[in-house]
Amino acid sequence: MSSVNKTIQINTIQIIYGITLAFLTLTGFGQMPIFKRYYIADIPGFGWLAQFYITHAMHYIFAAILIALCVYGVVDFALGKKHFSRITGSGFAKALIILGLMVSGGGMVVRNLPGIYFSHTLIYAMNLSHLGLCIALLMVSAYTLVKNKSWVK
Ligand code: HEM
Repeated sequence: MSSVNKTIQINTIQIIYGITLAFLTLTGFGQMPIFKRYYIADIPGFGWLAQFYITHAMHYIFAAILIALCVYGVVDFALGKKHFSRITGSGFAKALIILGLMVSGGGMVVRNLPGIYFSHTLIYAMNLSHLGLCIALLMVSAYTLVKNKSWVK
């Protein structure tokens, strides 16, 4: 297969990952909340972005899909006996960021459960690290997209 064909070959997992990341970002920012304030929710078809419980539930659903994709990726890699040294630098950076998002996001899921109380400092730390990691992932992802860098060598 020519390199041009390889470049334009898009596989299903990549499409699902792209859609999942886009909706996680959209529904995550929806909880801040900014879409009503900046009139984006007033655009026909975007009203749901201002509905907290809708964006909240969607964030959880897409987070579950992201976790499933990561488990699939790790198991596929391990069963295929592929060596982890094949992972590119940018791929490793994205994997670490996603791990951080899962830990901070998972922490906030626990915080949201009834009867669970965390200190204000811990809540701030989880919130800010989640937001910071989200921005970091978007920036590294934009870089890898523009530079056409893949996860593995
Ligand atoms: C395993 C993955 C994830 C889980 C479990 C998770 C969970 C959560 C939770 C529980 C919240 C707080 C909702 C609330 O206010 O109660 C949140 C907020 C947010 N999430 Fe995620 N999330 C995950 C991944 C992501 C990813 C991949 C992105 C974007 C790249 C993202 C972007 C955001 C943003 C921007 C916020 C709002 C931050 C803030 O209020 O400071 N999340 N997430």
